[in-house]
Amino acid sequence: MKADLIVGLQWGDEGKGKIVDLLAKSYDYVTRYQGGHNAGHTIVVDGKKLALHLVPSGILNPKAINIIGNGVVISPEALLKELKQFDSIDGKLFISNKAHLILSYHAAIDQAKEKQRGENAIGTTGRGIGPSYSDKISRSGHRIGELLDTQTLAKKITEQLNENKAYLDSLGVAIPSFDSLKEELELYKKELSKFIIDTTDVLWKALDSQKRVLLEGAQGTLLDIDHGTYPYVTSSNTIAAGACSGTGLNPKEIGKITGIIKAYCTRVGNGPFPTEDFGSDGDLIAKNGHEFGTTTGRKRRCGWFDAVAAKYACRLNGCDDVAIMKLDVLDGFKTIKVCVAYEIDGKRVDTMIGDVTKAKPIYEEFAGWDKVKGVKEWKDLPENAKKYIKHLEKLMGVKVSLISTSPDRNDTIFLGNEE
Ligand code: IMP
Repeated sequence: MKADLIVGLQWGDEGKGKIVDLLAKSYDYVTRYQGGHNAGHTIVVDGKKLALHLVPSGILNPKAINIIGNGVVISPEALLKELKQFDSIDGKLFISNKAHLILSYHAAIDQAKEKQRGENAIGTTGRGIGPSYSDKISRSGHRIGELLDTQTLAKKITEQLNENKAYLDSLGVAIPSFDSLKEELELYKKELSKFIIDTTDVLWKALDSQKRVLLEGAQGTLLDIDHGTYPYVTSSNTIAAGACSGTGLNPKEIGKITGIIKAYCTRVGNGPFPTEDFGSDGDLIAKNGHEFGTTTGRKRRCGWFDAVAAKYACRLNGCDDVAIMKLDVLDGFKTIKVCVAYEIDGKRVDTMIGDVTKAKPIYEEFAGWDKVKGVKEWKDLPENAKKYIKHLEKLMGVKVSLISTSPDRNDTIFLGNEE
């Protein structure tokens, strides 16, 4: 058995939550492999709003086991807050003992460094994601498994922070006392120990016993630490390859890879965004698409579909198929634009390889349509919307298998071989 994977193809916020929620029903295990509580989506169940940041979306499926893999960075404080929303999750959630901790000083460092960067700020979520991954890579981080011995962990952390006192002072970040830190870690140990385990072993056994495993990517391809718009990226490998290092599954154990992409583009935070629309079209997309961050509430920058970036993302991830989200948000536009190439220093460029800071979009224009919202079958889509989808499919070189026409689970078109 192989694990299937879902990955965002843009700068995050592609609507992965709806897809994972839709698919979670048919999987026995749902696993997060990177990122932390910088991610977020809201799911409405029986009229109750649930905010998910760290917990995999399979938590809403009574049968699924949810795994937070070793590649994730975990704020126990944020996780405990999130877990309060659920009645009982014992036996339904496992956390890798190798996942790294985010403590409050990580968030304080993140925010202080952003302030220091001034106009070059990355626009991080301020959750401490970068500082925690920095500690991990520089081999001075702390793993969740270490919570089982809080005395040693508190000692290690306070010693390490004191060694870096001058630097932390310069950022205005306070060092917690040993006692307060130990007390905090004790609480996390008490509440979380029952979930901490070697999750690689759990996943191997799941696949060996023919269980269905879904790997849930967070953020998006263009925020990948290596292949995104560096340095305006997050600090993890968001692409499909990150699922291997972030879980312990080997590349041969990954099966179907589905890319999730919006019918237009958005980005939160700073950094290049070739198709950003600064005029009324961008504003209308933001308004119709409710493009405000779930985690930080920030307004997202909006613009047209970037087929150059989409093709790059499909190749990086090895997508077998693509799900197009929020097509209904384009309802009512007279003309819809798609970026098919960039102009960089006067030259036409049709790949995203290289720096896109100076890229200007070269657009093709499509006639718009009136009503896609709520459509459930391909045959009921307006002809212009069908043409748009078929064209995106051609530009990306990957088959579109699903179209979402509203946030509602039921407003989804599943595609076979429609012409
Ligand atoms: P960080 O992950 O908080 O370090 O933020 C780095 C960049 O990634 C910033 O531009 C954030 O806005 C962006 N980012 C992080 N998580 C998400 C997400 O879940 N959706 C969209 N953008 C994100």
